Amino acid sequence: MAERGNGGGAKPETAERPRGCALVTGASRGIGAASARALAREGWPTVVNYRSDASGADRVAAEIADAGGRALALQADVSDPDRVKGLFASAEAELGPVLCLVNNAGMRADGLSPQITDEQWRAVLDANLDGAFHTTRAALGGMLRARFGRIVNIASVVGPRANPGQANYAASKAGLIGMTRTVAAEVARRGVTVNAVAPGLVETKLTEDVAGNGLLERIPARRAGTPEEVAACVRFLASTDAAYVTGTTLTVDGGMSA
Ligand SMILES: NC(=O)c1ccc[n+]([C@@H]2O[C@H](COP(=O)([O-])OP(=O)(O)OC[C@H]3O[C@@H](n4cnc5c(N)ncnc54)[C@H](OP(=O)(O)O)[C@@H]3O)[C@@H](O)[C@H]2O)c1
Repeated sequence: MAERGNGGGAKPETAERPRGCALVTGASRGIGAASARALAREGWPTVVNYRSDASGADRVAAEIADAGGRALALQADVSDPDRVKGLFASAEAELGPVLCLVNNAGMRADGLSPQITDEQWRAVLDANLDGAFHTTRAALGGMLRARFGRIVNIASVVGPRANPGQANYAASKAGLIGMTRTVAAEVARRGVTVNAVAPGLVETKLTEDVAGNGLLERIPARRAGTPEEVAACVRFLASTDAAYVTGTTLTVDGGMSA
């Protein structure tokens, strides 16, 4: 006979979201800024994390406040575990437990593999992969206690697929997808979901030097995506509607990897 009940997992009828805040790393511009705005529109008090661009982060927080939301710009380099502890302490003191985490902070330092230096390798892995682990570890305690949590990792189509010149970036994003799946399996019973979004080419500062390289020919939609189109996926995965979606990667690439 088929097993009945929910096997001890968090109750599926939890349509209400507990009180807490959203934290978006690297949210002073680009996909992070669009995600912070989208989550704030959903009613999340939102932490706009940044590393160096204080004025960009302040601008995003002001836009959220002007639209009737609540936001706080907080500086921290996510690759430093001690700074991440401080970031969470400040966020939680001001806005309550972090129940939605978007690991968006990321960078590139491209080169063919023989030319990638130790510094370029480390910098990309530190920011894109170690940073996401530091924040995930810091967020999970509060999420598990609340029996509710949403973690969305901004990965990339590069990682699952090759992109010559980006071995460090590809390794970081493939690692992020692996971490997404395993952490999702660890915490699924407690109402915490962990997913990734894998953008293709999106118009941001990160890609301003690559958009012209015949790349659009490889995209069936024949255009780059916008930060808002990625943020829409983040918003869905962070919603209560997505309670049964976990451990997966949502590709948003105009058909590039179809
Ligand atoms: N744009 C695309 O086509 C594309 C495609 C696939 C995936 N992605 C991913 O999407 C994410 C956002 O990229 P984007 O295109 O919006 O790039 P972006 O405009 O360059 O923004 C990246 C943000 O991350 C921050 N950041 C970098 N390292 C950080 C660190 N150690 N600690 C805290 N913040 C840090 C940057 O802040 P600072 O400037 O202060 O360092 C910046 O605010 C990245 O993970 C990227 O890999 C982008």
